[in-house]
Amino acid sequence: MSNEAKASVVRAARQGRVLVVTIANPPVNALGVAVRQGLLAAVEQAEADAAVQAVLIVGEGKAFIAGADIREFGQPAQPPSLPEVCNRIEACGKTVVAAIHGPALGGGLEVAMAAHYRVALPAAKLGLPEVNLGLLPGAGGTQRAPRLMGVRAAAGLMLSGQHLGAHAAFDAGLVDRVAQGADPVAAGLQYAEELLAANAPVRRTRDLAIADKAAALAELDALALETAKKTRGLFSPGKIVECVRAAVELPFDEGLARERALFVQCLESPQRQGLIHAFFAERETAKIPEAKAAAPRPFAAIAVIGGGTMGAGITVSALDAGLQVTMIERDAESIARGQKNVEKVYDGLIAKGRMTPEAKAATMARYTPSTSYDDIAHVDLVIEAVFEDIEVKKAVFKELDRVCKPGAVLATNTSYLDIDAIAAVTGRPQDVIGLHFFSPANIMKLLEIVVPAKVSADVVATAFELAKRMKKVPVRAGVCDGFIGNRILAVYKQAADYIMEDGASPYEIDEAVRGFGYPMGPFQVTDLAGGDIGWATRKRRAATRDPKARYVEVADRICERGWFGQKTGRGFYLYANGARTGMPDPEVLAIVQAERAKKGVTPRKFTPEEIMRRYMAAMINEGAKVVEEGIALRPLDVDVTFLSGYGFPRHRGGPMKHADMVGLPQVLADLREFAQEDPLFWKPAPLLEKLVAEGRNFDSLNKTA
Ligand code: 3HC
Ligand code: NAI
Repeated sequence: MSNEAKASVVRAARQGRVLVVTIANPPVNALGVAVRQGLLAAVEQAEADAAVQAVLIVGEGKAFIAGADIREFGQPAQPPSLPEVCNRIEACGKTVVAAIHGPALGGGLEVAMAAHYRVALPAAKLGLPEVNLGLLPGAGGTQRAPRLMGVRAAAGLMLSGQHLGAHAAFDAGLVDRVAQGADPVAAGLQYAEELLAANAPVRRTRDLAIADKAAALAELDALALETAKKTRGLFSPGKIVECVRAAVELPFDEGLARERALFVQCLESPQRQGLIHAFFAERETAKIPEAKAAAPRPFAAIAVIGGGTMGAGITVSALDAGLQVTMIERDAESIARGQKNVEKVYDGLIAKGRMTPEAKAATMARYTPSTSYDDIAHVDLVIEAVFEDIEVKKAVFKELDRVCKPGAVLATNTSYLDIDAIAAVTGRPQDVIGLHFFSPANIMKLLEIVVPAKVSADVVATAFELAKRMKKVPVRAGVCDGFIGNRILAVYKQAADYIMEDGASPYEIDEAVRGFGYPMGPFQVTDLAGGDIGWATRKRRAATRDPKARYVEVADRICERGWFGQKTGRGFYLYANGARTGMPDPEVLAIVQAERAKKGVTPRKFTPEEIMRRYMAAMINEGAKVVEEGIALRPLDVDVTFLSGYGFPRHRGGPMKHADMVGLPQVLADLREFAQEDPLFWKPAPLLEKLVAEGRNFDSLNKTA
């Protein structure tokens, strides 16, 4: 970077006796090397200029400082380091004030804590969210926060990654004053002048004492145990507690050194790579060709067709996004049930004290129930969520084509069906798109936006805008059986079935998958969702199944007994007396054994590692096919799908990132090894073979997209 560019990201200009240091590094004033250099230079300038009596640090644009520049992690370090910059700010002989009007996160809050005084404006957001990236505050935050706000509150802030508003930060002791308005320069100058007028001393956070160290250490003992239990398998939370302990036990500079050592350990951990990949990937998925090509159509009123599980959840999501919703059902009884499904969600919130009855009434005022399609002639966008049956859906879309105004976006929430075929029954296929929500739709973040052949770019852009309004994580998908997520899911569930028939119990498989970091294993998920759903799909597909493909019948045997999982008290597990946690069932093991015997399989042992190698190889291989066919735009879209919709452990970054970390040659070698037993199922995706041959990884495709 040229000197001029370096100079422009941090500007220092004297206003009277205060040197105003403005960080101008859009979009969020991250602390890249140029900003660090600029800050250091500004402090030196202040020291050298006799006319300067105080320094004011502010951020330009929306943020104070959003933290270290995350893109620099994993790159060679470039001096000055952020701890050095913070120490220099703190050591400044002239009073340093930070005025915070927006996000002051991670390194941003660390800069503010190194200043001598802090003022927050109403839109300020203060936090130490490094834990979400597999890190800990590494620029003195773990040592300064406990001195300002106390051990427990500081540890809580760092472990939760939560943001505090201006008043909460003031109550916690993180800031000295809350000012009104939105202009940090005005508020900061006023504060600085008051401090100078009052002869307020330079006050360094490092010099503050931690009260009652014995009690603090006892609290930290308890917190260490609690953290280990709650953040199972995560690396940085435990290190955060260690740093806070150092703040209590060690002199400041030794504490800083300890923090640095542990920060470097976190930085070098694969979890940091996975979590930072997830952070950027989630922001990349909205960058699609259609968004560049077209602007979204405006929308305010929408219709939801069907008030069942999904229709009700989608309605809640839309209402929460401030939209007007008309719900259409088949008859009076069904619409009454649909409305009840919606109200149940809000009543649940009221019962938990998270919503007032007045707020519910205000929200429901934007909801209109109806059994007549003629009532949706005015809406801008429709989301269909009726039964998963192509004929029913086609009939609905014919009705929509008849009543909807020109330019209305017509979306289907189908899980598997051919959206091109649904679009073809209308006279306006350019307006038809897939919006695949996940259950429960008002909670799950993922929204697969399925792009059929004839849809126009502005409809795709509208769908992404809707996702943003609903605070969903959108992923663009192409039309195929199951789109990105369910298509890949079908394949790795098949792998799980094969592993089961070959010798591992469903309980061993679930345990291995949980050990990898998933909240649940595949058989637990089947029991939770209801085994009957998959059974119906298998029966529907029986006629078209490749007769050469291996087919495991265990799940069918279980369903034939009426064991559909939690809702019937029995599935792969036993749920005695409505229990939500299942117990292993010897009768299920007997069924598995009988199926093995029928197929002549001699069961063998699988270690958890062997189970996961197969499970992941199946997932990655299908992921590669999905990318190769253009169903997913990039590998990162597959990653985000699984992180947001399928419980994939975030610290591993997603299946494709995981593959890169394991190494694609290893994944390919695994597939080739398994293919010796079943060449059809384990046939390596050509894309994977090509990448290995070229010495590339999946991430190289993210970059070229
Ligand atoms: N470094 C580099 N880029 C960053 C960044 C950071 N710290 N924070 C945000 N960005 C980028 C985003 O990638 C995005 O880029 P794009 O436009 O090219 O996609 C752009 O800034 C805008 O970000 P968002 O889309 O997230 O904008 P929002 O307005 O929704 O949110 C925010 C703003 C609340 C600041 C949010 O971006 C955020 O939470 N950022 C991360 C904060 C964080 O984790 N800080 C700690 C960093 S680690 C650290 O400081 C270590 C230190 O202790 C040593
Ligand atoms: P559901 O059976 O709970 O609800 C369907 C609703 O549609 C019923 O209330 C029914 O009365 C209504 N309906 C049927 N025909 C209608 C018509 N012609 N006009 C108006 N309403 C009509 O089903 P669910 O689970 O909500 O699924 C709906 C759609 O969402 C399906 O396409 C399904 O594949 C998809 N989906 C389901 C998920 C799930 O986990 N349940 C997840 C993602 C998508």
